[in-house]
Amino acid sequence: MELRKINTQDAYAQWEYTTALPADENGLTNPHTGVSYEEYIEKVLPTLISYEHPVDMPDWFVPETYFYLWDRDCLVGEFRIRHHLTETLKNGAGHIGYSIRKDKRGKGYGTEGLKLTLRIAKSIVPEDEIYLRVNKDNVPSQKVMLNNGAYIAGEDLDHFFLRIRK
Ligand SMILES: CC(C)(COP(=O)(O)OP(=O)(O)OC[C@H]1O[C@@H](n2cnc3c(N)ncnc32)[C@H](O)[C@@H]1OP(=O)(O)O)[C@@H](O)C(=O)NCCC(=O)NCCS
Repeated sequence: MELRKINTQDAYAQWEYTTALPADENGLTNPHTGVSYEEYIEKVLPTLISYEHPVDMPDWFVPETYFYLWDRDCLVGEFRIRHHLTETLKNGAGHIGYSIRKDKRGKGYGTEGLKLTLRIAKSIVPEDEIYLRVNKDNVPSQKVMLNNGAYIAGEDLDHFFLRIRK
């Protein structure tokens, strides 16, 4: 299994994943659901790649890198790393967002993918801990985090806030 940074060579598989991902699933948002392959190639892919080194983005936008989890020749999931925290991210979505293909869930990919993502995130993120947020009713994702050494640092009405020490 490996994580590959978003790239142009894997465009078709990345598009299949992106276009099928719901607009909002458990707080993981995707504005590109249902996008055509042409639009993905022309607009979406260059935009997502540019997020690592944002140009002409608003002040609040934090650099973000997209990675895809591959099991041999099958793209099974997406992991996004936001490079540092702002007040909004600290009290919100944190450093990492992820999802696994619907037909590949419950097979350990989420746990393994977060493990690989953490290795990269630990070298990018300046904070001492990796911040994560999860809906209280999203037990699979809580397990993915706890399997990777997370502890519950706080909560609000609908979410747990978890952290992983670097
Ligand atoms: C959350 C998500 C990434 C988990 O991915 P996954 O590949 O299924 O995770 P794993 O296979 O590593 O499973 C983790 C744990 O959840 C359990 N689990 C997985 N799917 C489950 C389900 N539908 N019901 C109950 N438990 C489930 C697994 O048995 C495993 O438990 P264990 O640690 O006790 O062995 C995936 O469900 C997903 O993409 N959900 C939609 C997007 C999302 O919620 N993202 C996270 C936002 S914080």
